[in-house]
Amino acid sequence: MNHELVLILNFGGQFNQLIARRIREANVFCEVVPYNTPVEKIKEKSPKAIVLAGGQTSVTDEKAPKCDEEIFNLGIPVLAVGYGMQLISYLFDGQAVRTENLEYKKADIELSDNILFSGIEGKTTVCMDASFHITKLPEGFKAIAGSDEYTISAIADDSRKFYALQFHPEVSMTDKGKDIIDNFLFRICNLSADWKMDSFVEEAIKHIREKVGNKKALCALSGGVDSSVAAALMHKAIGDQLTCIFVDHGLLRKNEADQVEEVFKNQFNLNLIRVNAENRFLGRLKGVTDPETKRKIIGEEFIRVFEEEAKKIGHVDFLVQGTIYPDVIESGVGDNAVIKSHHNVGGLPDHVDFEEIIEPLRLLFKDEVRMAGLVLGLPEELVWRQPFPGPGLAIRIIGEITKEKLDILREADHIFRDEIAKAKLNKDISQYFAVLTNMRSVGVTGDKRTYDYTLALRAVTTTDFMTAEWARIPYEVLQKASNRIINEVGCINRIVYDITGKPPATIEWE
Ligand code: XMP
Repeated sequence: MNHELVLILNFGGQFNQLIARRIREANVFCEVVPYNTPVEKIKEKSPKAIVLAGGQTSVTDEKAPKCDEEIFNLGIPVLAVGYGMQLISYLFDGQAVRTENLEYKKADIELSDNILFSGIEGKTTVCMDASFHITKLPEGFKAIAGSDEYTISAIADDSRKFYALQFHPEVSMTDKGKDIIDNFLFRICNLSADWKMDSFVEEAIKHIREKVGNKKALCALSGGVDSSVAAALMHKAIGDQLTCIFVDHGLLRKNEADQVEEVFKNQFNLNLIRVNAENRFLGRLKGVTDPETKRKIIGEEFIRVFEEEAKKIGHVDFLVQGTIYPDVIESGVGDNAVIKSHHNVGGLPDHVDFEEIIEPLRLLFKDEVRMAGLVLGLPEELVWRQPFPGPGLAIRIIGEITKEKLDILREADHIFRDEIAKAKLNKDISQYFAVLTNMRSVGVTGDKRTYDYTLALRAVTTTDFMTAEWARIPYEVLQKASNRIINEVGCINRIVYDITGKPPATIEWE
């Protein structure tokens, strides 16, 4: 790729992805690589700047991660953050002392007159790594920020263009974080902000064409954002050499399967095979009530259907995967690897005849994937879709799944989502849906007693889906959704709103 590159050495801190996001938001391309990447490998990538990112360890620990010291002799500017600052102190003969504190704290500090703080000198609030103090300046460095409590909270060696911060500019708690990052990128490193989505898409297409040549590729399309954008990108690059298989397991939301078909088959003219496998899936799920068993069955059946269809196509050279950058970062950092558990339907098929995996979105963050989708001409509602679990509505019906229950849930869920959209809350709430509980209760309609289902509405806000808050939806919106569901759906006579966060609950009910 022809972009200017910033390389982030990942020491395992929780904010590493965030700093990468901030740099990309400034239209500068960056990559996160393991902290111990050898200098030769770094040189090959010709970065214009290096960032040493966080990590909650003390540099004096025996096992403290250290980078290849040669990186400081490359003549490339360096920005060190949090743990990175300890490391610079350690390597350049300064001293960092561990404190008892293992937290990030809000702190007010004074910024001096330095190019890194251009336009923002004076007092400011930052997110401080309170786990250490610099007690002796490293050779060649001067202090450029501090307070009574954190006397040396930023240091600089302007001649070598090395900078280190005890606080985290990438976190929103740091008021002027964006300005500091911009100053580093544009005033110190003189970068040109050349990372733009349309040029990425163009380059990616070129790259895919070179790689695939006149060979064939196969893609499992789920209708989710990642697989849709991956398919659209591949299609733009290689046209009919790509075949997509869309397994409709009958557990999708209202109109969803038809919409996928309409967009990809009719608008994009893509080689799409839609497999209507509802009966197969419902057959296998008959009588099953345990959530994990449901997941397992759906995952297995999905692979089986996919494999059967793939077999009809015969040998393909490439299997397309919608892997995105957070998955790559999470799985690539040695001891700190985070293991994802249940979040993909099925995993990789064993019996599909392919030679190589191709991952066209491997370098993109989620919001960049969405932008790429828009550049490729995918419709907004598809690009901005909320996450939808692979096992679909099967884990939103408590207990046994039947076609009747699925249809009831589909209607109710559709109305709830419609009301959220009408209230223009859809971009503020991370995930919102209806759940058909396995409970019936007594109600009254007109002068008739009813004994019908209880429906739960669920809506959460979250940034990472690991923790979540229940969304404070205005009562009027809930009221409207409730009235409409009762009046329009039938078989539901009671509606509850889920007011638990995660933890202790999970986002899905199963
Ligand atoms: P939980 O319910 O664990 O959900 O709080 C966290 C996020 O993961 C999604 N989720 C799944 N996605 N297969 C998926 O592809 C699954 O089995 C699955 N279970 C939960 C959930 O929708 C939420 O976004």
